[in-house]
This record gives sequence, C-alpha cells and structure tokens, in this order.
Amino acid sequence: MGQEISLTGITTTGTPHLGNYVGAIRPAIEASRSPNTRTFYFLADYHSLIKCHDPERVNQSSMEVAAAWIALGLDTDNAIFYRQSDIPEIPELTWILTCVTAKGLMNRAHAYKAAVAENETTGANDPDKAITMGLFSYPVLMAADILMFKATQVPVGRDQVQHLEMARDIAARFNHHFGELFVLPEAVVDENTAVLAGLDGRKMSKSYNNTIPLFAPEKKLRKLIMKIKTDASPPEAPKDPATSALFEIYRAFAQPDEIEAMRRRYAEGIAWGEMKQTLFETINAILAEPRRRYAELTEAPDYVESVLCNGAERARAISAPFLKQIRRAVGIRPIGG
Ligand code: TRP
Repeated sequence: MGQEISLTGITTTGTPHLGNYVGAIRPAIEASRSPNTRTFYFLADYHSLIKCHDPERVNQSSMEVAAAWIALGLDTDNAIFYRQSDIPEIPELTWILTCVTAKGLMNRAHAYKAAVAENETTGANDPDKAITMGLFSYPVLMAADILMFKATQVPVGRDQVQHLEMARDIAARFNHHFGELFVLPEAVVDENTAVLAGLDGRKMSKSYNNTIPLFAPEKKLRKLIMKIKTDASPPEAPKDPATSALFEIYRAFAQPDEIEAMRRRYAEGIAWGEMKQTLFETINAILAEPRRRYAELTEAPDYVESVLCNGAERARAISAPFLKQIRRAVGIRPIGG
C-alpha cells in the first residue's frame, strides 16, 4: 500500500476559537509533524464565498486562520499549507466532476435539505428561496479538493461525513466511466477529540455566538472565561465534573495528573471562581507564546503570504500534471491528440 495522504480544509469565515483549536487545529498540527503521513492543509476560501459575501471578512479571516496555524507550530516544511483559490486546477476539476455528479445526490445533502426545510417552515413560496448554486454544489467543490491530491484520509467533524461519502460516490462514478484516476478517500472522525462547550454551555460554535477567540488578549481571555455559565451551587458544595462545562474545557488543556487532581477538587467542593481562575491560568500558559507569535505574524502579512505562496507552488506541482491526465481522460485534449 502507498503512503497515507491526509488532507483537510478550513473555511475562512471567522476568527479561530478555542473549539477550533482543540477539535481541528491541534490534531492537525500534531499530524503535520508526523514523518509517515503526507499532509495537506488549506484555506477553503472558495467555500467561504458560499456563506459569506463580505469581502473584508473573507480576506481578514484568511489572514487570521493562516497566521493562527503558523503561530501554533504547523510544520510548513513537511505539510503542504496553501490557499484553495491559488490552485486553479481545483475549480476546473470541480466542473469536470459536476458533469458526472447526479443532481439527486446533491438533493440529499444535509445542508441543502436543511435550507429547504427552513424555507418550508417559514412559509416561503419557493422552497429554494435564497439558496445559491454554490450552496447546492458545495459537496462537488469539496470532492475536487480531496480527489485532486489523492487524499486517503480526511479528518473532519461529524457534520462533514456525508460530504466524504459524496466524494467517494463521485470518484467511483468517474473511475467507472473514465478509468481509475481517483483514490477513494475516507473520513476520519476522531472520537477522542473534545467538542468544547462554549460560554453558554452549548457546543462552542461561531453560529451560536458563544466562542472564546483563540488569541484574545490575556485580559479579555480571563474576562470571557469568567463568563462561562455555571450552576448556582455554593462554593463548598461537591460538584460533578461530568456536567461541568468548565471541567470539560479544562480537560482539553490540562495534563492527565492535573485532570485527576481537579476531579478530586470537584468532589471536595471547589468554588466556581477558583476553578475559572485555574482554567484561565492553564489556557493562558499554553497560548501566551503562540499569541505573541500570532501578533508578530499579523503585523507582517507578507511573511504569511509567502508561506501560502510556497505551499501553492508545491501543491500545483501535483495538481497541474494530474489535471492534465484528467482532461485527457475525459477527451479534453489537442485535436487529433
Ligand atoms: N466543508 C469543510 C467544513 O466546513 C471545509 C472543507 C472544504 C473541507 N473542503 C474540504 C474539509 C476538503 C475537508 C476536505 O469544515
């Protein structure tokens, strides 16, 4: 069997938060250092256009995501780190795949179905109201991202598993018709990575507006942590770690012995204020140095840009010849060629 190829995309519509760090960035950075896997990470800026029509926000978010990943120690010599829009072969492949993708398959996409269901409940007279072709064909663009680099493994959140099934489906259909060019990718959903609770106790997510930005200044970080919702139990009352958002977040950052010690403190009764202070100190100790690097990087956008351009060059060394092969396979080639 050939080498494993791991690839994942990050949509550029928001500022990276603690949930992104624990769920996606940290594991990806660890994988970027592994000598046994070839890793590809990219800013999915074409995907972000589907959800966001604010040019400044798209641009700013690309910068923030790239700087965050670099500041946190992404090994950009080993991993190929690039911006989707720097790879013109991706939209080309998207079109070729669009032509072998069943519309019925796209009709079944959760995100599209949810948008239609929303229109139906609000009584819109058109079930497709405000749904763009971008949203509808989102899974095809994502398939192109993945198939272009022959990814074998795609680390994603659970909500993306259906998109991986679609990518496999599209790849299989293409291969059946035009020859075995594509590798069928697999979704990797890590059951052990924590899903962090946000300020209100629900999953930390941009859409709930309950996030803690990864590189909030120290004071702000402390302030936000102090805001995390707790119950009204008095300081000395024993507390249950299993139902505590604070404990859950702590667990994602602390060392195993610290976690055990904290479990005991909960049983004895720890005041929420003290727990919040400990949580702040633990997270701050981990993020202080990356935060300093992040500030430097955002002050020097040229450097970030050069890292991405270098990644794009390495990615295109793969995508350009492969697209040639794909074009030939479907009959797009010189007359008589
Ligand atoms: N759809 C993914 C998300 O919302 C982002 C993404 C775009 C992606 N292209 C990808 C993830 C290719 C994995 C592989 O999280």
